[in-house]
Amino acid sequence: MQTSHSAASPEAATAIAARVAALLEQMTLAEKIGQMTQVEKNSITPEEVARYAIGSVISGGGGNPSPNTPQSWAAMVRAFQEGALQSRLAIPIIYGVDAVHGHNNVYGATIFPHNVGLGATRDPALVEAIGSAVARELVATNVHWDFAPCVAVPQDIRWGRTYEGFGEDPELVSALGAAFIRGMQNRNGRRALDHPHAALACPKHFVGDGGAVWGTTRSYPWLGPLWTSDDDRYSIDQGVTAVDEATLRAVHLPPYRAAIEGGARNIMVSYTTWGGLKMHAHRYLLTGVLKGELGFSGFLVSDWLAIQQLDPDLRKGAATAINAGLDMVMVPYDYRAFIEALTAAVEAGEVPQERIDDAVSRILTVKLELGLFEQPHGDESLLPVVGSEEHRALARRAVRQSLVLLKNEGGVLPLGRDLPRLLVAGRGAGDIGIQCGGWTIEWMGTPGPITPGATLLDGLRAAAPQTELLYDAEGQFAPDVRAPVGLVVVGEMPYAEGEGDRADLSLSAADRELLRRVRRHCDRLVVVLYSGRPLVVTGEIDDWDALVAAWLPGSEAGAIAGVLFGDHPFQGRLPYTWPRDMAKVADGTGEPLFPYGFGL
Ligand code: BGC
Ligand code: BGC
Repeated sequence: MQTSHSAASPEAATAIAARVAALLEQMTLAEKIGQMTQVEKNSITPEEVARYAIGSVISGGGGNPSPNTPQSWAAMVRAFQEGALQSRLAIPIIYGVDAVHGHNNVYGATIFPHNVGLGATRDPALVEAIGSAVARELVATNVHWDFAPCVAVPQDIRWGRTYEGFGEDPELVSALGAAFIRGMQNRNGRRALDHPHAALACPKHFVGDGGAVWGTTRSYPWLGPLWTSDDDRYSIDQGVTAVDEATLRAVHLPPYRAAIEGGARNIMVSYTTWGGLKMHAHRYLLTGVLKGELGFSGFLVSDWLAIQQLDPDLRKGAATAINAGLDMVMVPYDYRAFIEALTAAVEAGEVPQERIDDAVSRILTVKLELGLFEQPHGDESLLPVVGSEEHRALARRAVRQSLVLLKNEGGVLPLGRDLPRLLVAGRGAGDIGIQCGGWTIEWMGTPGPITPGATLLDGLRAAAPQTELLYDAEGQFAPDVRAPVGLVVVGEMPYAEGEGDRADLSLSAADRELLRRVRRHCDRLVVVLYSGRPLVVTGEIDDWDALVAAWLPGSEAGAIAGVLFGDHPFQGRLPYTWPRDMAKVADGTGEPLFPYGFGL
């Protein structure tokens, strides 16, 4: 069972096991704990990576070099790897990033639709192709590890990470999560993590992150004021998953089974709590269920600052997590304090030496499977594929397939090429940052021309050159302006994680006012929604002729225009149930406005 899950053939696996045993033999406790340590790149230098035999360096969201170019990314990661190769045993690091919709921190990379949009496509082959393209963009910059796919099964769309999930249904999430892993790790249909253009995937966050209950997020006073609790932020993210074990297994566990079968060799642990225990302390689920029952033989990484949440005493937190089955710790800042704490715990017998050896073996095994000892750097000859036309074409296909047509009164869509005039409004129609959402260049994302790409407005101009297009972000058209069709983009501004927790998913007052303003100037009104989740539109939709859910399409939103003009059909189907009102979201009852799977 174990070997069938390994990334290598039986002969290769035997050879790797022998190399791991030989290395372990030579390693000091300090070197072992170094391998278990993952540090954020601004908190360490390449020389310190060598001195402490550090196992991994990462960029968090927005952890960019300056200038933010693919070339300087490659140089930055190369320098850390060269540092690691200067360590006594020359064990390579593995550099990690959150490439959750493309290599999204990098200026000029291809930004794919967020997972919510990929869920709407229902297309594993497409998601596999995206996984493969993302791996190539990563490896071009010497990065070998992606903290993706997020295989959460979000059950409450008030969660700010709803868009990171493929949908509310475990089967859908399982199919697409495994497809992404195959694409990122395999070449030519075989499991080949050591292929020079493959990267290590990281399904996350184990387990039940999508099942947290509103209002259960805790704060950790000893970590300082991470967020203010006087608004919606961090109300559900990192909270308590209050379901029984049968439900946990039926809803939240299946994507991990599929991921392991698909070749997952690394998994990230969740901030959430289940059964009265934080996941990072959950020996039964990490060691019993995941490593035991599911036969996961890769390594587990913590989430950012997560072991510090376990206890104000770092030594206790570290010991608890490692004893529960955690193998590598995303410290991420004060790595010296962590190393000191875990060393003291081991020396005092609070963490058995065998547990340390097991953790280090798992980490070294995966590094060997990845071929890092033979080829510690990526392949900078691939730099031209970062944001290449080929990858953008794939992103355009994903955008087209992700669009869900929710309403189309009197067949207003597709628009005719003979349309004389089109009024367009809404800041999102011409704003790359808004269409990309969170986890783009910065952790939170940000509006504005943050990276190259095509907006819906660009796409409309190209698709219908003969149509007179009048654009005003605020919809302030002269009183006598009229058009047969108006198109308004409304929705959500960029956010990430708990910053996006929202109790009320109604359209903003400004968006409602914008819609009313444009309505007066046109015979038919088409609304395009850019959002990470369904929004409540029950009070407004009767006034609209068409509604298209476009999710967070990424850098290639121009592709929406071709579907609006009928060059391609609408194909997407809802990955989340569309609520009629917020009360229904909160208590999970009542008739939805559109059911799960709906799409015209
Ligand atoms: C980092 C993110 C990380 C977050 C966690 C931010 O400062 O940039 O990558 O997810 O902290 O709190
Ligand atoms: C997030 C993870 C992410 C990590 C590193 C955390 O805040 O929960 O999903 O991989 O930061 O950026």
